[in-house]
Amino acid sequence: MIGGGRTNDGGSPAAGGESVARGAAAGAGGQRTDRPGAGGTPSGRMSRRRMLGFGGASLLVGAAAGAGIDRAVAAADEGDATTSSAVPFHGPHQAGIATPVQDRLHFAAFDVVTGDRAKLVRMLKEWTAAAAAMTAGRPVGAGAVGGPEVSPPDDTGEALGLPPSRLTLTIGFGPTLFEKDGKDRFGIRDRRPAALVDLPHFPGDNLDPNRSGGDIAVQACADDPQVAVHAIRNLARIGFGVVAVRWSQLGFGKTSSTTPDAQTPRNMFGFKDGTRNVAGTETSALDQHIWAAGRDGADWMAGGSYLVARRIRMHIETWDRASLGEQQDVIGRDKNEGAPIGRRREHDPVDLPRLKPTAHVRLAHPDSNGGTRILRRGYSFTDGSDGLGRLDAGLFFIAFQRDPRTGFIRIQNNLATDAMNEYIQHVGSGIYACPPGVREGGHWGETLFG
Ligand code: HEM
Repeated sequence: MIGGGRTNDGGSPAAGGESVARGAAAGAGGQRTDRPGAGGTPSGRMSRRRMLGFGGASLLVGAAAGAGIDRAVAAADEGDATTSSAVPFHGPHQAGIATPVQDRLHFAAFDVVTGDRAKLVRMLKEWTAAAAAMTAGRPVGAGAVGGPEVSPPDDTGEALGLPPSRLTLTIGFGPTLFEKDGKDRFGIRDRRPAALVDLPHFPGDNLDPNRSGGDIAVQACADDPQVAVHAIRNLARIGFGVVAVRWSQLGFGKTSSTTPDAQTPRNMFGFKDGTRNVAGTETSALDQHIWAAGRDGADWMAGGSYLVARRIRMHIETWDRASLGEQQDVIGRDKNEGAPIGRRREHDPVDLPRLKPTAHVRLAHPDSNGGTRILRRGYSFTDGSDGLGRLDAGLFFIAFQRDPRTGFIRIQNNLATDAMNEYIQHVGSGIYACPPGVREGGHWGETLFG
């Protein structure tokens, strides 16, 4: 199954198209010299790879005793050496939720095109094996080269020579997997969690059905876009005849952080985004607000989370004509430091009454929403222009939460009076139940399909 590893021919494979150009995302120079070498044994490859994520981060803590977890985690998020490393695939929770946020995204929603449950489960097992291999920096199956010349290789090959790049693959199941057009397609209708609601229509929504929904979603995040795109492409290839890509979205420039000590990234409005997010180290907040529990009603989701994705178009040309004061009032923070209005430092507490009643941060803040918190993990996107001389740019918003009814839906309803609405429009949407992590020897969907 493991095959020959991602070999390093000593050169840089040609980058793909513009949207998957690798250079910018690969982080600071020299990382790719820390790649699996040609002909290396699996154990040899492993020894050159640092296993990170929060499991790995805790090892760092041991090593860096006294330095404290925050610095170790910040280093994991920012250190150039770590951007090539591997994030463990197996564990109680899926990676790609509370683990440090990578630089790039390829999100794909699939429709299941078969009615055959056994075929679907077989594909999920094949996907799991491929995901475990790719996240460890190995190729799919017997690899991209060296196999029989009469059949297509198991792996498409464009990640040959590239390190794992902290690739995480996170799967979620959409409402239509459980029931579509009144049909219980795979005998799991009664396993649909109550929290996996159909999202209501929100004021201002202009959703494109071709960029919304899907039976299964996979979020691929990596520090190298070619690695993320390779992962989705290979899953789609393996799934041929069982699933078809319904829509997908590339993202760059993370707009969130799960590592508060790392520098907060900026979004397409030029503001720091992700200052107040649930951190990967906030165990009790994760348990309270992000991880589903068995007692919530769906046993198979214990340790999982619900993903809400929104493609939010940002009218950046209009925004760019707004005064600095107006921009800061809309967000509720200053543009330079990112401090809440009336405060000095970015991480100073928000003093809600000092913000305009329509400021985004005021309306989204937990104190305005019954204490609810969500874990944001979105990315910027720019998909060319719209034919009217405007960039098709925005935020691909991704949020994880224990229950979307008290998480995203509650906050989004409160954002009905958000001054930011003048500058944005939600144009795509999806909601998915992301099961718990995969145990060694287990597979995606194991707890659901039993
Ligand atoms: C294009 C759309 C959006 C932009 C540009 C945007 C931008 C921002 C910015 C700049 C901040 C302040 C920094 C921070 O604390 O992270 C923020 C905070 C926040 N946003 Fe958004 N946001 C958008 C959409 C949304 C949506 C759709 C939701 C949820 C329904 C949301 C929920 C939040 C939350 C919960 C906070 C933190 C509030 C706090 O605790 O202080 N945002 N957003």
